[in-house]
Amino acid sequence: MTLPKLNYLIERGEKFAMLTCYDATYAKLMEAEGVDILLVGDSLGMVLQGANDTLGVTMQDMLYHTKAVATGTKQALIMADMPCGSYEHNVEIALKNAQALLQSGAHIVKIEGGGAMVETARYLVSHGVPVCAHLGFTPQSVTQLGGYKIQGKTEAAANQIMLDAKAMSDAGVSMVLLEMVPAHLASKITQTISVPTIGIGAGLDCSGQVLVLQDLLGIYTGPAQKSPDAFKAPRFVRNFLAETGSVQSAVRAYVQAVKSQTFPAQQHSY
Ligand code: KIV
Repeated sequence: MTLPKLNYLIERGEKFAMLTCYDATYAKLMEAEGVDILLVGDSLGMVLQGANDTLGVTMQDMLYHTKAVATGTKQALIMADMPCGSYEHNVEIALKNAQALLQSGAHIVKIEGGGAMVETARYLVSHGVPVCAHLGFTPQSVTQLGGYKIQGKTEAAANQIMLDAKAMSDAGVSMVLLEMVPAHLASKITQTISVPTIGIGAGLDCSGQVLVLQDLLGIYTGPAQKSPDAFKAPRFVRNFLAETGSVQSAVRAYVQAVKSQTFPAQQHSY
């Protein structure tokens, strides 16, 4: 999979399926089951390291897992998250860290936020780094956002996300990921901007969908220190393992559900 091939699929009306992936074994499995994009997400801070949020993930962590995923992959597109603190200070540091992720096997990097990050995205793109902009709920700003909450509910907030998406698209990003925003807003953004959108809790109309692997398998029960009883999976999660009985068939069922547009359904959207 390459970015031009992905755009070709989208032009033909096909949806693409993306999953988080942190190691070579799952990379190989996901590729065999037809996952188009593997996201080495900084969600690894939560689902692998057991933390409350993604803020403690380092560049070393991301380089290690990106390399592992790249080793297990022949064809899938690999997207790697730039972790908190690796791109916000200045564009030179952002470029150095983005290039290190590309050298470890990523094909595209993801940064969170609009506003000031538009110039960072423009700088990375102008230096040959493909970028995905992550808008809506941005996990690295969880404290500022006051918790895991849907974004873009008011007209002003929705307008701001639309403006950020347009600005990122104009800055040359290859994709925009929309997390936890109303389905009608994600739909409008997808129709408006000239690059594909990826949804997580953003309704059916995005160009593609992403889920965290451990959510798809129904095995994530919150931070390591907290009781599993205190955990409630977010609305946008569907447990494909419970429906299918094996990891391989759960991943296959997810890909099929995304491509046939039966996932996300209304009950997974806001
Ligand atoms: O890190 C991650 O897994 C992500 C997804 C929530 C999209 O960014």
